[in-house]
Amino acid sequence: MAQTNTITHRELINLRQPYSALPGGVFGREDIFQTDMDIFFSKHWIVVGVTPQIPKPGDSINVTVGKYTVSLVRQNVLTVAAFRSVGDSDDAHSSKPCAVRVVGAHILVCFDDHPPADIDYLTETLSPRFAPYEFADSKIAFEMEIIEDGNWKLVIENNRECYHCAAGHPELNVAFIPMEDFSDGSATAEQQAERDALQAQCAMTEKSWANEGWISEAVEYLDEDATTQFRTERWVISNHGESLTLSTRVACSQLLGNLTRRDLGDLHFWTHNSWTHVMSDHAVIAYLIPLSTGKTLVRSKWLVHKDAVEGRDYNLKELTEVWIATHQQDAALVGITHSGTQDAAYVPGPFSPVVENFVDQFTRWYSTRLAAHGI
Ligand SMILES: [Fe+2]
Repeated sequence: MAQTNTITHRELINLRQPYSALPGGVFGREDIFQTDMDIFFSKHWIVVGVTPQIPKPGDSINVTVGKYTVSLVRQNVLTVAAFRSVGDSDDAHSSKPCAVRVVGAHILVCFDDHPPADIDYLTETLSPRFAPYEFADSKIAFEMEIIEDGNWKLVIENNRECYHCAAGHPELNVAFIPMEDFSDGSATAEQQAERDALQAQCAMTEKSWANEGWISEAVEYLDEDATTQFRTERWVISNHGESLTLSTRVACSQLLGNLTRRDLGDLHFWTHNSWTHVMSDHAVIAYLIPLSTGKTLVRSKWLVHKDAVEGRDYNLKELTEVWIATHQQDAALVGITHSGTQDAAYVPGPFSPVVENFVDQFTRWYSTRLAAHGI
């Protein structure tokens, strides 16, 4: 291994062919993992929790991310204070305030004394989209933790590529409208007719959202010009269009906030350590905390209206079965991918220009952010 480490992090990244995966060392080397933690989980904004974890003023939780432990303290309905301590320093018992933002139900922190200023763009874009869901009045209906057997970057790459969705996520696919198009002429007449029907449904739904002021257009801030990268869009859900459930209808009869309209689609939100889906009746918020080169903790929270009652307003199985299955399926794929990258015979392969644009973009963003910090 010592010999491998004579190649620097930058040299390893520079070995990447255009539009191809990174060399295996970027996922498996301990020194690179530590650099990733120092840069992507200390000097960037990360999601570390959700506001319903600390529902009342004075409530607090501790979250450990690498060498940092952050205390999140609820102040009132709108603000959270964060204090960080460093586990491996002499003054581990002291703590200092750390930068914190609440965006919808997400609690984001940055451990650096100079947090990236473009968090304002994320906040300004997402806050009006999340506002009608009134997450201050939500509660956690279910939570799940998985330790995936893969590097954190592979967890994100898996989340952003769609090669595996059709075959890998039968439950999610009931509600998902496939994003890939068949404009290369490879579609059969039947596929094209189905595609046209879905597009017509999407256009009609988006028009009716626009008429009522529901923002749906995509905002993509993921590329090399972004520091605090994010993406959001309100996606149409197929069939009944209400929620990411097996029936595509709401699983919780009490909608979030004071909503009355059920078919508000799937308001999605990505950051470099989280992915969120907000429907009219519930939200699923997942975020990752790297544990080691090949272990990544994924925490998921299912949020519903705080007055919703299990057994009366919702059934836990209906509420959670799609994303529990999806998370488990993704975890299995990430494990296979990670072990593949660590195989001596691993050769990084090319990305698909149809369904892996986001993966290439993430890889370029990763490289650019490292460069910004001298790597
Ligand atoms: Fe997936």
